[in-house]
Amino acid sequence: MNQLDFIRALPKAELHVHIEGTFEPELMFAIAQRNEVEIPYKSVEEVKQAYNFHNLQSFLDIYYAGANVLIHEQDFYDLAWAYFEKCAEDKVVHTEMFFDPQTHTDRGIAFSTVINGLQRACDDAKERFGISSHLIMCFLRHLSEEAAFETLEQALPYKDQIIGVGLDSSEVGHPPSKFERIFAKAREAGFLVVAHAGEEGPAEYVWEALDLLKVNRIDHGVRSEEDETLMARLIAEKMPLTVCPLSNLKLCVVDDMAKHNIRRLLQKGVHVTVNSDDPSYFGGYMNDNFIAITEALDLTKDELKQLAINSFEASFISDDEKQKWSEQIQAMA
Ligand code: ADE
Ligand code: ZN
Repeated sequence: MNQLDFIRALPKAELHVHIEGTFEPELMFAIAQRNEVEIPYKSVEEVKQAYNFHNLQSFLDIYYAGANVLIHEQDFYDLAWAYFEKCAEDKVVHTEMFFDPQTHTDRGIAFSTVINGLQRACDDAKERFGISSHLIMCFLRHLSEEAAFETLEQALPYKDQIIGVGLDSSEVGHPPSKFERIFAKAREAGFLVVAHAGEEGPAEYVWEALDLLKVNRIDHGVRSEEDETLMARLIAEKMPLTVCPLSNLKLCVVDDMAKHNIRRLLQKGVHVTVNSDDPSYFGGYMNDNFIAITEALDLTKDELKQLAINSFEASFISDDEKQKWSEQIQAMA
């Protein structure tokens, strides 16, 4: 089997995908039309032309504008369902999806509208495709601690449907320390915790996510390599990094995929995984990310297997499930 077919056949878990970042321009147009919401583009082509980002903020401005057309429960369902169809094509058998409630509640959309639409798609994906999923609610770090506390309050009645909380949006200038108290409260309430750190921000933010937020995983974390002591800690603790190669390229975290550090991190013993982040905006879903790094970095089948096994081991599924997927992947030739 060649590398391409091998990637397609590999079962994978996706641990870093923003459901609002899977919003394809075609669906955005269709939903805008049925909700009679104006968007600042005349065609799908024009939307795609706007996708030439040079950093995280230039992406986020467009990403939040796109999310404005989501109003009804069915819109959130359709958004998530379209993503699950991509998962089925890419052999993503388990996914842990981020959603940003504040992007919607700040526009007057009820928390229940968002979560009910997403949950219904998760239930249908299990039944129709056998894909399992968890929801992770992210706090927008450019907003205040007080706003995050309000959002956590709103989430409590849905505790059984939300496995964890995360931290996303504009990283530089909004260090994890700003959310130390909110993460303590979330952990106390029984949520698992993850945080974006070391994407554009420095290795120092990864330390803060570990020491102050006490995260179960680091999202991105690629800048950890700049700090040898941090690297030793990540390796010793088997701390997962949910790496997003096409995102890093599109947002100029790296200027060439051949210079991406994911293979080096893997070889050094860091628990790295491959993910799509915001696939509609960054040029590809899970398999596109695997293919991009395989071609640029010449990954072997054993390395591909290790990345896929890492994705299950770093996930929030049961130990039995982890073992089942690991054994299935190990047996692949
Ligand atoms: N929100 C959506 N995608 C993001 C990313 N890559 N970094 C931070 N916040 C995000
Ligand atoms: Zn992200």
